[in-house]
Amino acid sequence: MARLKARPHGGDVYAASRELQRDVTEVLDFSASINPLGPSPRVWRAITGARHVLSHYPDPDCWALRQALATQWQCESAQIVLGNGSMELIYALPHALKIDHLLVVQPTFSEYAAAMVCHGGHVTQVCADRDEQYALPVERICSLLHRQKNGPRAVDGVVFCNPNSPTGQSCGAQDVLELARVAQRQGVWLIVDETFADYCQERSVLPLASSLSRVVVLRSLTKFYGLPGLRVGYAVARDSVVRKLRGALPPWSVNAMGQVAALAALHDTAHARKSLQFVMKERTRLAGLLAGLPGCTVFPAHANFIFMELPRGWQARKMTERLRREGLLIRDCSTVPGANARSIRIAVRQPRDNDRLIQSLSRLLIENRS
Ligand SMILES: Cc1ncc(COP(=O)(O)O)c(C=O)c1O
Repeated sequence: MARLKARPHGGDVYAASRELQRDVTEVLDFSASINPLGPSPRVWRAITGARHVLSHYPDPDCWALRQALATQWQCESAQIVLGNGSMELIYALPHALKIDHLLVVQPTFSEYAAAMVCHGGHVTQVCADRDEQYALPVERICSLLHRQKNGPRAVDGVVFCNPNSPTGQSCGAQDVLELARVAQRQGVWLIVDETFADYCQERSVLPLASSLSRVVVLRSLTKFYGLPGLRVGYAVARDSVVRKLRGALPPWSVNAMGQVAALAALHDTAHARKSLQFVMKERTRLAGLLAGLPGCTVFPAHANFIFMELPRGWQARKMTERLRREGLLIRDCSTVPGANARSIRIAVRQPRDNDRLIQSLSRLLIENRS
């Protein structure tokens, strides 16, 4: 069984503001990958107009939100379950689906393995290869599932993230469907975390999730819709699977303001389009500037962040600390299994913020060399 250490996450602006004795708004957070345009203006309007919802318990069925999502994805609302962020669903899944041995494709989000360990299960890790730019090792996973003997220790769940965090890699829907077929044949659950899939919808299998019997697709309103503080995520799967998952969740897990805001965010398709265009353009510009820093290696990016390696001789931990002193938070990925000591992840923010980061990064890299 994998032993897990404390798991640092991006986005802890509160700890940074206490440590630096600066207001939270003066900390530039490149460590959590949130829409740089922020939430839709409709969200602000909806929240201010919905004070009355605070006087009631939230709708435990998230009825209106499920209807909106069902319309968006052309599925039944019974095939959707909401959670307090997709994190709550990640923790509910092992219990709900009785998964005892999870295959995790690294380097990836630490909470899949943590949730499994919390559930008392086993974790096996497969590492994507750096020389293949961390592409999802589809053939290796399929052959592992084919080769394994049935029995109490067999892998009964596979999880991966598409596009993946922190590597930014993504695989095509055909590859995911191939994995889904093998998983179904072998009686294994396939969990596909599509938290960042709004940035490459053509690679998503969400529209097919309810027709695949052993697949659960996770989505989040946190990143693309810019609502990390409200905690709204969801899963799409067959009705029977959704019922199991729902049964593993506490009542009222999605708060009333979260439901109001999520509904308003989903309805603003113009803001979604604008966000997508903005991130694509700025990501290309930022990736070019990062690649131009001496000795840095930048990996292809399919979401709203960039995964890269600092020059040889540098350590991600040291650079993260140095930048933090300047009020710039980046994600040190050196402790993520499968990544190396020079790996960092940087969220795409507004051009002015990105330029400020580039300035600090290049100065620190030069200072260290001299
Ligand atoms: C890949 C991935 N999945 C899921 C989550 C959880 O997101 P949330 O609970 O905010 O929906 C995160 C958060 O950082 C993440 O990076």
